[in-house]
Amino acid sequence: MPFKQFDELIDQWNPSRGIEDSSTPPYTWYTDTNFFEQEVAHIFQRAWVPVGRSDQVEKPGQYFTGSVVDNPYVVVRSLDDGKLYAHHNVCRHKGSIVALQDDESQHNSCAFFQCPFHGWEYRHDGSLKKAPLLGRQVKFNDERFGLPPICVETWGPLIFLDLDGPFGGISNPRDLKADVKELDDVLSATNWDKLKFYKREVYELKCNWKVFVDNSLDGCYHCVYAHEQLANQLNLDQFKVEVFKRGSVQKGPTKSPDPRLGESVAYCYLYPNLFINRYGHMMDINIVEPLAVDRCRVIIDFFFDHKDVEDWESRKRIREDISSSHLVQQQDIDVCEYTQRGMNSVSFRSGRYSSLLEQACYAFHVLHWHELRGLVT
Ligand code: FES
Ligand SMILES: [Fe+2]
Repeated sequence: MPFKQFDELIDQWNPSRGIEDSSTPPYTWYTDTNFFEQEVAHIFQRAWVPVGRSDQVEKPGQYFTGSVVDNPYVVVRSLDDGKLYAHHNVCRHKGSIVALQDDESQHNSCAFFQCPFHGWEYRHDGSLKKAPLLGRQVKFNDERFGLPPICVETWGPLIFLDLDGPFGGISNPRDLKADVKELDDVLSATNWDKLKFYKREVYELKCNWKVFVDNSLDGCYHCVYAHEQLANQLNLDQFKVEVFKRGSVQKGPTKSPDPRLGESVAYCYLYPNLFINRYGHMMDINIVEPLAVDRCRVIIDFFFDHKDVEDWESRKRIREDISSSHLVQQQDIDVCEYTQRGMNSVSFRSGRYSSLLEQACYAFHVLHWHELRGLVT
């Protein structure tokens, strides 16, 4: 797609009108394949994106695999030096996936990686250990045939990757710690990093990734209609939205101390695709993975108070809490998929914001416009 055309798509929305006078971004932002491809190239391949948890690679030798917008990666804690590494999980011989994983919620470990195709071996730091039966080579330099490195960082229980190779390592100008500063202040007060991971649920949605993000940033506008039971437990009149440079928090009290939600809830968002929802004895962390212009995957990791995970009574309550969350999630999936279908209609061009409730959603679109334009430093 010529750059001008992409430029025109971005500029179908004006980020400087203010929430009261602004339409929402046009349907093309949610339905145009070329726009999606540019989002992948300009945003997801050039940002810190969350991929997993530190407890998956707690012990030396443990690793997990996945893909960031179709780029397979492996994250590993090295047996040799105990450090955390991330690499493109792509063999330097013929491009096969190297590290395989049986079950993403289990701990995987190995002494080194061996490609399943022709057996090339790589150390945990990515360097080439052995290339069997290669025969005589001219100008073959082992050092140039390691797994390509990816920048890796942690925040709280989370691991982030930045695929943008040239900016790797300490010279990376994108500062994750600065990006999360305000959210860290909100979450630190809730002991979020002391909670224990319990279970992962994965959902596939037939909608653009931003439909899910928009839904989660509407200041609970949809709660009364889409989540009647949840809305009855929240004191929505006292809900507040705080917008930060690269995220937001929507928070408010519950109606009475609720066994699941506690006294208050805090729904935190970090651009582009992370939600951290902290309430009561629990927390759910949502990573929204774009799969195609009209498909995304939402990975939800549930965390609980450590003592809650231990005894049988608590486990029973945890199961109930997770099934309540599952119900809420299913309701969100329904409205997100209705929205994607509606956006494909010739009748829909763009919508409007609630100026009372949707400040976080508006801020997301303004930041996204600037990121797509390459105007964020
Ligand atoms: S593709 Fe990996 S060893 Fe051949
Ligand atoms: Fe919802």
